[in-house]
Amino acid sequence: MHRSITIHACSVVSLILAATLAICEPGCTARPGGVADTAAPSTNRACALACADPDAGDNAIICYSCRCKEALGALPTPEEMKCSDGEEIVVFRDGEKVTTEVPDCENPALLYTVPSGSACLPGSRMKQFTKGDATFKLICRRKEWHPNWARPTEDSIYEDVGLIGYNPKTGATCFWDDALDQAHDGDALTNIDLTTDSHARAREFAGAWLPIGDGATCLQCHDSDPFIRTSYLRSLTSFPNPGRSPDSPYALVSPTGPVALVDTGLSHLTSDSASACTGCHRIGLGETCTNFAPDAMGFKATIPPHVRPYQEHATDNAGTNTAGYGVAYWMPLDLPPDHAAWQEELLATKNHLMRCCGPAEHDAGAHDDECTLSPMPGPRGQAGAAATGAP
Ligand code: HEC
Ligand code: HEC
Repeated sequence: MHRSITIHACSVVSLILAATLAICEPGCTARPGGVADTAAPSTNRACALACADPDAGDNAIICYSCRCKEALGALPTPEEMKCSDGEEIVVFRDGEKVTTEVPDCENPALLYTVPSGSACLPGSRMKQFTKGDATFKLICRRKEWHPNWARPTEDSIYEDVGLIGYNPKTGATCFWDDALDQAHDGDALTNIDLTTDSHARAREFAGAWLPIGDGATCLQCHDSDPFIRTSYLRSLTSFPNPGRSPDSPYALVSPTGPVALVDTGLSHLTSDSASACTGCHRIGLGETCTNFAPDAMGFKATIPPHVRPYQEHATDNAGTNTAGYGVAYWMPLDLPPDHAAWQEELLATKNHLMRCCGPAEHDAGAHDDECTLSPMPGPRGQAGAAATGAP
């Protein structure tokens, strides 16, 4: 229980940071621009009304948009959310770029709601950009074969579109997910800024995006940090995650209740035996622990729906992979030179992770004393936020 000392220490640091953040640093500039769209959501009447009565009509989705705009500093415009402006997510087979329909590959999508048969399709894209303090990532996924996949402006239809915005200063994170089972024109996505013309825009929004509340359902997998970077995304070389560190704040934006930023309620692994991983980033107790981390350490899921269409050389269930090492193993970032070196340096870490939180089929029933968990650092710089566990 010595961990609670660490947690208290963190709260003190947050309080100090909160005080510091309230002061405008030299060089901070006033936001330029016209009147309507740049009016701070907190002083915008439509926002105030929607947030005061979030249970009525479409007020909750309006309030979410207002609070996200305030917490992130800005929201992307439809022009900024064009899938064709994104970078292609390249899937590899035997080291070669996949350009046709293939039965398996080296780095399938790990999101298991992408059916196994679609996890190696070419033509998905990701766009990353910053606005103010916030980083946005837009993912446009193909779940069906598109003959014209290589010409994104000619075929801009995607079966799944998601957007995440993250402000690493406060931890504020907002999620958007397209309405399910629809093909969307990824170059004409519906405006997510509902802070003006609120009710008309909210009706349009509701036809295109899911009402995801505060996005808590996304935390099942986005459980270590707002952004996930699996080997599926390995071709994206220029996509940094600003602010990512083991103690970076992570908070949800609530569309209801008195404060905008609330705790995620997540926990992460902080055992000493996990430090070879957690020195760089957290290992969240959701799918990162049960699936993504094992996958990164050569263990590929074998039970649907998690099973992915890996090429044989990219799997290592026997623990003796040499041919596909470097494909089967994609962590730690500074990968040891060969499989033998990996085993020597990291087998104990792997065993610890698999025991504490590995997939059910691999869990020896242990969540024993050595598995130390800590609560996710919550919002930073919001009055009263540190004590807020629920909306
Ligand atoms: C079942 C697990 C799972 C859930 C639930 C989930 N995601 Fe993801 N998401 C992933 C994985 C895994 C990736 C990384 C790419 C890959 O391997 O498929 C990802 C990537 C993303 C990305 C690209 C940026 C990044 O972090 O890499 C966005 C945007 C995104 N998800 C949005 C959402 C939203 C919005 C929700 C909630 C409505 C959500 N996701 C829920 C698994 C999930
Ligand atoms: C030297 C730093 C470093 C070490 C050590 C490290 N990682 Fe990572 N890891 C990263 C980076 C960087 C990413 C890419 C994410 C990003 O762009 O922020 C990542 C991503 C991941 C992901 C994808 C999901 C996510 O949260 O983005 C998993 C899973 C993961 N690492 C597991 C591990 C495991 C397990 C270990 C220990 C065996 C480990 N990592 C050690 C730096 C590291």
